[in-house]
Amino acid sequence: MTVANLALIAVAAIAILGAAGAFAVAFRRSQQQEKQDPTAGVSAETRAADKSMAGVRVEPIAVSVPDSEPEDSPPAEEQVGSDLTAEEEDNEPVAVHVVETQRIVEVSAEEGGVSRRQFFNRAITVTFGSFLALMGLNSLAFFWPKLTGGFGADVDAGPVGDLQKKVLAPDGSVLPLFIPEARTYLVPAPDSLSEQFEGKSVEAAGLMALFQRCVHLGCRVPWCGPSQGFECPCHGSKYNSIGEYFAGPAPRNLDRFVVELRGNNFIIKTGSIIETPRAPFRSVDYPQGPSCIAATAEAEA
Ligand code: FES
Repeated sequence: MTVANLALIAVAAIAILGAAGAFAVAFRRSQQQEKQDPTAGVSAETRAADKSMAGVRVEPIAVSVPDSEPEDSPPAEEQVGSDLTAEEEDNEPVAVHVVETQRIVEVSAEEGGVSRRQFFNRAITVTFGSFLALMGLNSLAFFWPKLTGGFGADVDAGPVGDLQKKVLAPDGSVLPLFIPEARTYLVPAPDSLSEQFEGKSVEAAGLMALFQRCVHLGCRVPWCGPSQGFECPCHGSKYNSIGEYFAGPAPRNLDRFVVELRGNNFIIKTGSIIETPRAPFRSVDYPQGPSCIAATAEAEA
């Protein structure tokens, strides 16, 4: 696990925490607004009808009101000339008229619904928070395997004795062993390496681990047995058997990984990529036979 990987995982974790924080802040702010704003629970129709009617609903009610008697008229029992008995007066119909008036009813937040401003604020918060959370989760998912193995971590290629036999063909020529988990070609190292590899831990027990990717534009570089080198089919870059630059647009040698022995096993540290400039001279001869990409081009012509 390199410092760069740890930094990227930290960024992903911060993104997730940021998303959680944004959700929490937005939720608290929304609740505070509803507490502080007395109109928070009022429907849009009510607001439109009367902006001063905060948190209320106006309902019509009907009230029956008897016709008022003139202030100066004497009480019924004192009226002179009345021929009605008390019982008859009680049963006599009283004229009333109905007055339409209003009453104010407070409404709940649920009944009032969500205002347009609240809706947009929440939509923006949810969208931004979801984006941050997804970005963080994707980053974590991408880098998580590096914590437990696989490319980016230390890859155990197996017992070194077995590997040393597998990188050579029966006739003694080089036959790189591909380790898919490490995206690496294991190749035999020469007895003496050029100065550019000194002190970089790119060789252990006579083996080197070359990254499969062409340093020009990233194509996977296949091995060419006849020429005893790696030849890129994309734009024609060529490297010898330990990945030293020979020809083509590649700006440097093939990249390689730091390697070490752990007990009897050969470990490829795929989190530690070593880049080296074009070799001033090559530690291993190239080409040792016909070029594969030249042969392919001739065949296609
Ligand atoms: S990608 Fe290999 S030469 Fe361009």
